[in-house]
Amino acid sequence: MVFGTLRQVNDLRYCPVRTHGFRYSDSGRVMKAKLEEMLQVAQAAIEQADCESALQDVRVRFLGKKGEMTAIMRGMGQLPPDERPLVGALANEVKQQLEQIFDSRLEQVRHADIERRLEQERLDVTLPGRRHPRGTKHPITLVTEEITEIFASLGFGVEEGPEVEKDFYNFEALNIPKDHPARDMQDTFYVNDDVVLRTHTSPVQIRTMLRQAPPVRVIAPGTVYRRDSDITHSPMFHQIEGFLVDRKVTFGDLKGILTTFINQFFGRGVGVRFRPSFFPFTEPSAEVDIQCVICGGSGCRVCKNTGWLEILGSGMIDPEVFKSVEYDPEVYSGFAFGMGIERVAMLKYGVNDLRLFFENDLRFLNQF
Ligand code: PHE
Repeated sequence: MVFGTLRQVNDLRYCPVRTHGFRYSDSGRVMKAKLEEMLQVAQAAIEQADCESALQDVRVRFLGKKGEMTAIMRGMGQLPPDERPLVGALANEVKQQLEQIFDSRLEQVRHADIERRLEQERLDVTLPGRRHPRGTKHPITLVTEEITEIFASLGFGVEEGPEVEKDFYNFEALNIPKDHPARDMQDTFYVNDDVVLRTHTSPVQIRTMLRQAPPVRVIAPGTVYRRDSDITHSPMFHQIEGFLVDRKVTFGDLKGILTTFINQFFGRGVGVRFRPSFFPFTEPSAEVDIQCVICGGSGCRVCKNTGWLEILGSGMIDPEVFKSVEYDPEVYSGFAFGMGIERVAMLKYGVNDLRLFFENDLRFLNQF
C-alpha cells in the first residue's frame, strides 16, 4: 500500500524508495507526505465526529473547495511534469479513501442517532394523560346557590330581572320619587335620565307582582351597582331579594322565615337581632344583625366592637308599593328583604377584604 506514517515518509528522504518503480523528487516527496499526513489527521477527525453536522464540518475542512486537500494540491505546479500524474493518482486515492471512511462513519452516526431517538422517544402507554385544570365555582356563586336552596326548601321560587333597569322599577314604583333623599344613598350609574344600572334587586318585586297575582313567594338573586368603592364597598356587587305576599302575612312570618334561614346558613344558635330601620318601600322596616361570627359577640374589629353584624334590610311591604302593582293592600300583606351576598360570604368564610372576590386571584379562588 502506498500510505505510510509521516516518519516513514521523512525517512524516505534519506532512503528513497520507488513507488510504482518511480523515484520522487524532493517536492514530490513532500506532497506525498502531506497527503498521507492529511489522511491520518482526517481519519482521526472523522472517527471523533459524533453527529452528522460535525461530520459534515470535517468533510468541508479536508475535502471542501477551500479545504486542506485543495491547499495541498496547489503544490502540483511545482512538481516536475512526469510526477504530476502519480501525485494526482495518489491524491485521488487519498480522497476516495477519505470518502469511504466518511460514508461508513456517517452511517454509524445516523444509526446511533436513530437508536438514541428511539430510546428517548419511547412511548410509555402507561403514562397518565395531561390533565386540564378544573375550575371551581366562585364563592359568590356558591353562597348564592346555598341561599337559594335554603329558600327553595321554604317554598320560594326564583325570579330574575334586568341589570339595566328603568327608573320606574328601581325607584318610582318602590316609593322613591325623583327628589326623595333615599336616592342619595343609592346613587348609581345612569344610562340616561330614565334608565339606570339597578341599585338593588328590589325592582324584581315590582316586575314579579305586575306579572302575577298573589300569593307570591319569590327570591331574586342578582348583580347590582352603586357609586361606591372602598374596602367594604364595590361599585358592582350582589344581592338576594326575597318577598312573600299573601293574605294575613305578619311581621312574625318575616321574623320566622329569616331566623330559620340564618340558623341554617350560619349554624343553629347564632344570635339574631331585628333593629328598627327605614326603607321607603317597607313599613315597618328592620335591619337584621347576627352575632359577630368572628368574635362570638364579645366585640372585635370586624363588628366594630358592637358584637353584631348587619346582614340585610327587611320590612313589611309598604301599601304604596302594592298600589303601584295594583295589589289590594286591604286584602294582602307581605314582607320583603334584601341581603348583600358578598357580606354574608365574607362572614361565612372569614374573608376580610371584599375586593378579593373580584380580583380573580386563583390562590384565593382555589380555596373554595
Ligand atoms: N333594597 C334594599 C337595599 O338594597 C334592601 C331591602 C330590600 C330592604 C327589601 C327592605 C326590603 O338596601
